Formats: sequence, C-alpha cells, structure tokens
Amino acid sequence: MIRNTKSSWGLVSILFHWTMAALFLGQFWLGWHMQGVRSLFDRYTLVQWHKSLGFLILGLAVLRLIWAVTSRRPELPEAMPAGERALARGSHVALYVALFLVPSTGWAVVSASPLPIASRFFGLFVVPSLPTGVSLHTQQLWSSLHGFLAYAAIFLVGVHALAAFRHHVRNRDGVLMRMIRPR
Ligand code: HEM
Ligand code: HEM
Repeated sequence: MIRNTKSSWGLVSILFHWTMAALFLGQFWLGWHMQGVRSLFDRYTLVQWHKSLGFLILGLAVLRLIWAVTSRRPELPEAMPAGERALARGSHVALYVALFLVPSTGWAVVSASPLPIASRFFGLFVVPSLPTGVSLHTQQLWSSLHGFLAYAAIFLVGVHALAAFRHHVRNRDGVLMRMIRPR
C-alpha cells in the first residue's frame, strides 16, 4: 500500500501526486490572478503567498524526486503502442522538470529585483536570494522566462490530464484509477 508495485502506485506516490497537482494548479491561478490586482497592499500580500507556496512546491519536488528515483515505477499497460509509451514517459519527465524550473525561475525573478523585499517562507524565515545579479533588466528577463515556463507547464498539464481521462474512458485500462487508489 505504501510503496509502488509492479502494477500500481503506492500511497506515498499518490499523496505526492495529488497534493502537488492541487498546489501547482492553485499556484498557477494565483500567479495569473495577482497580476491584475490593483490595490498595492493586496497585491503585496498575494505575491508573498505566491512566493511561499512556490518555495513549498520546490521543496516537495526535491522530496518527490528522491522518492521517485528510489522506488520502482508501475509498468504501463501492455496494449499501449511503443510511441505512446515514449510520449507518456517523456511527458512525466517534462512535468518533473517543470516542478523544478517554474519555481526556480520565480525565485530568480525576486532575487534579481532592485526592490529590497525579503522573501519570507510563510512568515517563518527569510529565504536567501539566488546569485542572479540585481537589475531591472535581469528581473524582466527572468520574469518573461518564469511566465513562459508557467504557461507551457500548464499546457502540458492539460494534455497530461486529458491523456489520463482518455485512458479511463476509452482504453479502460485502470491507469487513472491506479493513481487514485493503491492496490
Ligand atoms: C510551481 C510554482 C509556480 C507557478 C506555477 C507560478 C506561476 C506564475 C504565473 C502563472 C505568473 C503570472 C505570469 C504572467 O502572467 O506573466 C507568475 C508570476 C510571478 N511569480 Fe510565479 N509561479 C511559481 C513559483 C514562484 C516562486 C517560487 C516565486 C518567487 C519566489 C514566484 C514569483 C513570481 C513573481 C514575482 C511573479 C510576478 C510577475 C513577474 O515578475 O514575473 N513564482 N507566477
Ligand atoms: C489535473 C489533473 C491530473 C490528472 C487527472 C493526472 C493524472 C495522472 C495519472 C493517472 C498518472 C499515472 C500515470 C501512470 O500510471 O503511468 C499521473 C502521473 C503523473 N503526473 Fe499527473 N495528473 C494530473 C495533474 C498533474 C499535475 C498538475 C502534475 C505536475 C505539475 C502532474 C505530474 C505527474 C507526474 C510527474 C506523473 C508521473 C508519476 C510520478 O512520478 O509521480 N500531474 N498523473
């Protein structure tokens, strides 16, 4: 139940998957929404939440990756064509990359900012800046990259979720259910 088996995900992988999926989707919405908030105070508060949640996602990504590389992975259904298998594996790797790159580039945005605003992790401690150099130009570069990667990642998540529903509705091969209930 706890660990992955040859045919199913275990409880730890399932909890990592759905907790991080919810955090990632919520974080994407927050990043998009906070851009349009007019009140400076409200915007400041939302950006602080966005930063803390982003650091949380990055920390969880490290733990999840360690868990993933030290666990066995359930095999894909035998009936799946080779091309689809490669796509499934490639998209999972790309999602892992996104779980690191999107928050890291967000961290670079605030590190490069000429505004001396500390990034506090849920108000508990200050997260140090990355050695990006500080200038408006550098901040804007990281900001464009952060936005681009966030939108590219959400597109990938959309395709990933559609593929999961296709497995459930069309192929009926249990791929969605094994990420919901450990066997
Ligand atoms: C998985 C984690 C993250 C996701 C999905 C995410 C997503 C987004 C999105 C969608 C935007 C709006 C982009 C736009 O419309 O141009 C945004 C903006 C922003 N994000 Fe994130 N973000 C994440 C992590 C972080 C982290 C860790 C930080 C900083 C520590 C951060 C800092 C910012 C800042 C300062 C902005 C404001 C706009 C800018 O200057 O780019 N983000 N984020
Ligand atoms: C929103 C709805 C989502 C659905 C319906 C969904 C569904 C699934 C399913 C069914 C699997 C198992 C595939 C298999 O058994 O081979 C899976 C795996 C995976 N999903 Fe999702 N997913 C969603 C969101 C996300 C999000 C937001 C992320 C990350 C940004 C993500 C990252 C992953 C990764 C990395 C795997 C590979 C398994 C692992 O190592 O944990 N998923 N997903």
